[in-house]
Amino acid sequence: MSQVRIITVDGPSGSGKGTISQRVAEHLGWHFLDSGAIYRVLGVMVDREDISIDSVDKIAELARNMPLSFSGEQAMLAGEDVTGEIRTETAGNRASKVAVIPEVRSALLEWQQKYAKPPGLVADGRDMGTVVFPQAQVKIFLTASPEERAKRRYKQLKEKGLGVNLARLIEEIRERDERDSKRTVAPLQAAEGALTLDSTQLSIDEVYGQVMRKVHETFADLSGN
Ligand code: C5P
Repeated sequence: MSQVRIITVDGPSGSGKGTISQRVAEHLGWHFLDSGAIYRVLGVMVDREDISIDSVDKIAELARNMPLSFSGEQAMLAGEDVTGEIRTETAGNRASKVAVIPEVRSALLEWQQKYAKPPGLVADGRDMGTVVFPQAQVKIFLTASPEERAKRRYKQLKEKGLGVNLARLIEEIRERDERDSKRTVAPLQAAEGALTLDSTQLSIDEVYGQVMRKVHETFADLSGN
């Protein structure tokens, strides 16, 4: 049986990986996995249940039994729509704290791997190409300077009507990068053989063009552009 086709898009927050991977998945008509959303939901649960971040066993237990499902872009937790709640900066920071726990990462591994289904999968995260889908045929590592990423985030949050402070946002992004890159299990790093793109000076369309060129080179039978 031939292997399922997989494209992984890893990188730090604000690099544009979410937008790009969703667009690629939509264009190809493939499945889409937003792995960050899973860590965000777990962070929200830990907070709601007032569990200390040091209670590794309890958090891993929650990760194993999360009543989480996705319906398009909506994240549903036991039937409750938590999409808005998981998109805040606080939720992102909390997610990166639960994400350092090795037991949490192994509890979520199989769950994520089930997304690899025909006709193909586009997976967005930090360790998609290195740990979760090392067999992926196309691996992208998307990055941008912390200042540029903070500016993009600032704009997004402003558009949503949320009050934000740019200097604080830059600081938070740096802290999160540091935690994500320095953790011992599945740190944020480019997978071997990944195409690394720095989007600091590139538009979304330019990044998308380069990613799709790589996709078509790899899967020569795919039609269109
Ligand atoms: O991508 P997003 O900003 O939604 O991810 C939130 C946090 O979840 C990240 O900062 C990271 O700590 C964690 N994460 C992870 N592995 C992934 C995806 C996200 O550790 N594959």
